[in-house]
Amino acid sequence: MKVKVLVTREIFDDVLDYLKQHFEVTDNQADTPMDAETLAQNLTDKIGVMTTLVDRVDENLLSRCPNLKAVCNIAVGFNNIDLAACSKAGVMATNTPGVLDDSTADFTWALILSTARRVVESDAHLRAGNWKGWHLKQFLGLDVHHATLGILGFGRIGRRVARRALGFDMTVLYHDGQRADAETERSCNAAWASMDELLARSDILTIHVPYAPSTHHLVGAAELAKMKPGAILIHAARGGVVDDAALVAALKSGRPAGAGLDVYENEPSLNPGLIGLPNVVLTPHIASSSAATRHAMALLAAQNLVAALTIGKPPNLLNP
Ligand code: DGY
Repeated sequence: MKVKVLVTREIFDDVLDYLKQHFEVTDNQADTPMDAETLAQNLTDKIGVMTTLVDRVDENLLSRCPNLKAVCNIAVGFNNIDLAACSKAGVMATNTPGVLDDSTADFTWALILSTARRVVESDAHLRAGNWKGWHLKQFLGLDVHHATLGILGFGRIGRRVARRALGFDMTVLYHDGQRADAETERSCNAAWASMDELLARSDILTIHVPYAPSTHHLVGAAELAKMKPGAILIHAARGGVVDDAALVAALKSGRPAGAGLDVYENEPSLNPGLIGLPNVVLTPHIASSSAATRHAMALLAAQNLVAALTIGKPPNLLNP
């Protein structure tokens, strides 16, 4: 008899077929979001679940799912999962590291270029029929080439962002609690800087730290005020790392001069102040969303679930 698992949101058909070879699967190919109560009800008789970052797995939920053995998140970030509560309940939790690093770094660069060179703002201007012809001072932007790129968080994604800067002849600085080894710094052409130096020197500041209590509002009013005049902020890490209200106020005062944002504090709600600002590029948490990468994430989560419930050793176990 196959054990029962739940997949909380729509996934790729072939990944669902793979799961069905191993489990009796309750799927949600209609992609209807589940609130906490619906999730709990759906999980009462399940042994495993494939979650997304919008599903909260906490002590309360776990207390209602006594049979649950594995929670496999389709994301590298896992701040939606209370790991301590999982461990206490004997539930394995996994994430999907590695497979989305390059796509997220690519998208970071999409935000860098479109924010610095005002691509979205000028596109809107043209579509609205406002273009009256070429003139010298139209949509003056920030040069990316030869600028100083500051990377806050120098893990897998931050390093890939750095490597992509090589072609733009940039000075690359990074700040991270843990300094990278000399070979990594050399291959990324990146030098460690203190947080204050990073803020003061970066023309483009891009954030790549995970969300945790220690990174909550890591970039707030005080940090934004220390940014170099004319600099822009790029954020494709996790909502909550930046204080969005402070960012709106700072953008209104022109420091930073612009922002490219893919993640927000209360997704899918946005701080209402962001919408009216012309100097921001806003995307809906899609940095990892290439077709190949989102498929790889779903497949890795499914492989974690199969390994967890068959051999008890998923490759990306977060709470060994
Ligand atoms: C992740 O994997 O944490 C990403 O934010 C998902 O898009």
